[in-house]
Amino acid sequence: MSMKHQTPLLDELEKGTFPSFVKEIKRAAEHSDYAQDLLGLLELSYKEKVTHWKHGGIVGVRGYGAGVIGRYSDIPDQFPGVAHFHTVRVNQPSGFFYTTKALREICEVWDKYGSGLTNMHGSTGDIILLGTKTENLEPIFAELSSKGWDLGGSGSAVRTPSCCLGAARCEWANIDAMSITNEITQHYQDEMHRPAFPYKFKFKVAGCAVDCIASIARADMSIIGTWRGDIRIDQGEVKNYAQGGMDIQKEIVDMCPTECISWDGSEFKIDNEDCSRCMHCIAKMTKALRPGTEKGATILLGSKAPIVTGALMSWVIVPFMKMEPPYTELFELVDKIWEWWDEYGKNRERIGELIERLSFTTFLKEVGLKPQPAMVKEPRRDPFFFWSEEDIEK
Ligand code: HEM
Ligand code: HEM
Ligand code: SF4
Ligand code: SF4
Repeated sequence: MSMKHQTPLLDELEKGTFPSFVKEIKRAAEHSDYAQDLLGLLELSYKEKVTHWKHGGIVGVRGYGAGVIGRYSDIPDQFPGVAHFHTVRVNQPSGFFYTTKALREICEVWDKYGSGLTNMHGSTGDIILLGTKTENLEPIFAELSSKGWDLGGSGSAVRTPSCCLGAARCEWANIDAMSITNEITQHYQDEMHRPAFPYKFKFKVAGCAVDCIASIARADMSIIGTWRGDIRIDQGEVKNYAQGGMDIQKEIVDMCPTECISWDGSEFKIDNEDCSRCMHCIAKMTKALRPGTEKGATILLGSKAPIVTGALMSWVIVPFMKMEPPYTELFELVDKIWEWWDEYGKNRERIGELIERLSFTTFLKEVGLKPQPAMVKEPRRDPFFFWSEEDIEK
């Protein structure tokens, strides 16, 4: 198919060494009217310096209120191919493992009904199928679900939970991140498909504090694998590292954020009481150091990107929780948190923002958690502990 629109401004973006989305859209435009008109509409926006997308909202499919994000052009007569240009979220498997057969299945459905443009694992983790019309949504959903696929979350719902590849490929995983993610997905089906919250809620599960999934910056609830007790040390292997040329003082001891390691050239000691389980020493000396044997997770709450109000990082609400199926303790905690958020959250207020507005003290009381030192959000700032009226003897 030859190009329908001239795109001198977009063509500039194909120059240079970086991959170019323009090149990819042009490739799709060889067999897609959607992609042809997407180029035309974008070129016009660049020229006029105004957007030609109307804000859409959610378009449901039967039985599912989430999973499709609606988009419409404000000049459909000029660019009929993108009169509707909805985004379909598809729930991805834990850890992003696919067979090529599974990927072909998705692409076949998408070639038949959509623009051919995909975004494999957008910032939210889902498979994103970019651009189709309203009347295609039911057939897309029917074909995907008949092949065992499910739509992901969107709108004010539980979003597709995601995780690092964890125990499947990584020796540092302290918990089975993939199993936990799958269980959360199964357990909260209703909350994923039928938006009923003040705003979105994301779970992200990391096997350890290296946090390859960046849960601490992107999840309303971050579940991060950790351990209780002492780091296991193989003194012989520590010496091998030293003899092999590692400057243990500089690279390990001085880099420990809590300054709890000492090394006198023959013995490597850790004051485990002070260790924050950051994984630095273990990740640097894989042969000499291993996490302790009692594994579990730290549960954190509240991070989000700067949409609506500013960015937040998650902070600790449960320093250590055992993580074994059927994960009853986790689900009970989540249900209590949601009940509180449902009751007090304003429209489009994330859980972290609600805690900031009503205070961490109130949050702890309402969900029945006890204040602990590990919960302090920032050094030299204690946001949650105050004497209440009843505590003061008069
Ligand atoms: C007025 C126009 C648009 C607005 C206001 C907008 C805003 C948004 C918002 C708020 C989301 C998150 C939706 C959710 O709650 O799940 C989203 C998702 C997304 N949008 Fe748009 N969008 C617009 C147009 C477009 C267009 C034209 C494209 C592509 C050509 C696009 C690509 C995407 C992608 C890929 C995602 C998913 C990102 C991810 O999950 O990683 N959007 N958009
Ligand atoms: C310096 C520029 C930017 C930075 C650092 C940035 C960063 C991020 C991050 C960290 C997320 C993930 C949030 C999460 O998973 O909770 C995100 C999501 C997103 N960003 Fe950006 N972004 C930038 C610019 C943009 C621009 C220019 C657009 C669109 C024109 C955009 C559209 C989106 C959308 C649609 C999402 C998904 C939101 C959702 O899941 O609800 N971003 N961005
Ligand atoms: S977060 Fe930890 S367990 Fe997960 S992949 Fe990264 S290093 Fe491995
Ligand atoms: S895990 Fe981190 S805090 Fe703990 S001893 Fe190692 S470097 Fe220090």
